[in-house]
Amino acid sequence: MKIVILTGAGISAESGIATFRDSGGLWEGHSIEAVATPAGYAANPARVLDFYNQRRAAARAARPNPAHLALAALQKAPQHQVTLVTQNVDDLHERAGSDPVIHMHGALSGALCAACGVRAPAPQVMQPHDPCPDCARPAMRPDIVWFGEIPLHMDAIEAALRSADLFVAIGTSGNVYPAAGFAQMARWSGARTLELNLASSANADDFDERREGPASVLVPQWVAQMQALPG
Ligand code: APR
Repeated sequence: MKIVILTGAGISAESGIATFRDSGGLWEGHSIEAVATPAGYAANPARVLDFYNQRRAAARAARPNPAHLALAALQKAPQHQVTLVTQNVDDLHERAGSDPVIHMHGALSGALCAACGVRAPAPQVMQPHDPCPDCARPAMRPDIVWFGEIPLHMDAIEAALRSADLFVAIGTSGNVYPAAGFAQMARWSGARTLELNLASSANADDFDERREGPASVLVPQWVAQMQALPG
């Protein structure tokens, strides 16, 4: 079966990484405009880098949970073709053994030169005006897709959605497009749609089936069902 999986912050919540819009989430304590837009970065690069340096440290301290591990096992099931797309910028899918992982909102592990576009590994602590390893201009920024920027790998994601038999959204609130439109896009192409989430999402109506509960329980249960299928 061709399966497209979209994960959001909810899959990493039980690893101790804060979500964005839940009570106590990151967007309660920080302004999106200040730390997650190109204008916010231009106004105060040190504040923005500090935000991502802290998140990089939090991700490093976290461990993959049973939901990440179950998805990595499903990717290895010979009868299924799994495309794993994440909005998360942590590397818990990779550390659970998933390969490949499509990071549509970028990754904390990456840095991007705002002058020449070259990508490089991010140091654990980024400083304002870090020099580009390629063009030497002091323009390295986090390789994170901010509000107002275009998500990465959209061609590959759309192609996978068009040919999917099943689309599964895990732990995402369905508020941020284009990811929030993937369920509808997959459905229009004939896929069945399933949501696994602790609570109802903003686009709950786009799913044929919804299961409510913690990802660390729901995802391994669903993966066991898929592993038992012939294909
Ligand atoms: N198990 C399953 N789902 C959970 C859990 C859990 N343990 N904990 C929280 N959730 C769900 C919440 O019910 C909610 O629907 O995870 C979702 C988290 O929603 P958001 O905080 O909005 O995160 P996400 O949907 O990934 O955000 C999308 O917004 O600002 C950005 O770029 C950032 O990629 C992010 C995007």
